[in-house]
Amino acid sequence: MSATTPNPLTIEIKGLLNKLNALLVAHYYQKDEIVALADLCGDSLELSRKASMSPKELIVFCGVAFMGQSVKVLAPQKRVIMPRLACCSMARMIDSDYYDESIATLQSYGIDKEQIFPITYINSNADVKAKVAQMGGLVCTSANAQKIFEYALQKGKKIFFLPDRCLGENLARSGQKSAALLGRDSKEQIVNADVICYDGFCSVHQLFTPEDVRFYRGRFPDIKIVVHPECDPNVVEMADFVGSTSQIITYVQSLPLEQRVAVGTEFNLVNRLRPKLNGVQTTFVLSASKPQCPTMNETTLEDVRDVLLAYEDNKPINEIFLDQNTQKWAKIALDRMLELS
Ligand code: 13P
Ligand code: SF4
Repeated sequence: MSATTPNPLTIEIKGLLNKLNALLVAHYYQKDEIVALADLCGDSLELSRKASMSPKELIVFCGVAFMGQSVKVLAPQKRVIMPRLACCSMARMIDSDYYDESIATLQSYGIDKEQIFPITYINSNADVKAKVAQMGGLVCTSANAQKIFEYALQKGKKIFFLPDRCLGENLARSGQKSAALLGRDSKEQIVNADVICYDGFCSVHQLFTPEDVRFYRGRFPDIKIVVHPECDPNVVEMADFVGSTSQIITYVQSLPLEQRVAVGTEFNLVNRLRPKLNGVQTTFVLSASKPQCPTMNETTLEDVRDVLLAYEDNKPINEIFLDQNTQKWAKIALDRMLELS
């Protein structure tokens, strides 16, 4: 189909969105055709906040499950449906049982619950956020992690950071604090650490390596290396700029187009960051592989149409529901973060 021929599927989706008075939101990592159609595109927190404040009652969320849950937590009166109930692989690495087991392990090492200040990355499901809130902790995103970490340090407790071991260790390194990895490091290392990290990770951001940085620097000595803080700490230490999804977009787009840049984050986002300069590529993905997030890439235009048709037919599919207790406590964890952001 030529670029000028309207796609019947997108016309059908637009018609359904109009009829159902629904808001279509898409995370930056979604496929290009989904991003092009969305009313709102953004990072996980931005989308959850804007969608929860929208006057529209029906939110169609193209992203991964914890993001749709965040809208439902912040605005329980809204209906939230997801074209795909895809789960971020990192978020899947911890649930409320694993959380309890982790706390029990720390207690068995002689660390009391009262000595632990938990922080959960937004890439976790609502049941985990609720558990963290019940222990006095809160949520962070990659955009505000530094601020939340500094706030947590003032509590004078051990920080238990979950589920992303890389973000936890990167924060500890930047604050010159010691970190240990639960389940891998010894009891002694855990007991002596300022920050205890849960052993979760992002399979996509793990793909960027120090060799990739050396490769690009060898090829283009003036290149800027830009990475997301979910990357390995050894990669983060070599970078010129470290930032969240939105911070990366702002930074890279502020550079002159002739400035070469290699970016260590999700492929779809990097691919649409900047145009070529007179046909010459100056923006590179910091990897020899294609670091596409598999779960973010599951959503298709057909899925968007089908979820809307099912809703119109009064047989909704992939709707987000949370029990009252989880909703209440997960909201406390998110509100504590929002107050500090
Ligand atoms: P953002 O919070 O920046 O949208 O990132 C979410 C994510 O999944 C990064 O891999
Ligand atoms: Fe999860 Fe990684 Fe995909 Fe982000 S890129 S949604 S952290 S698996």
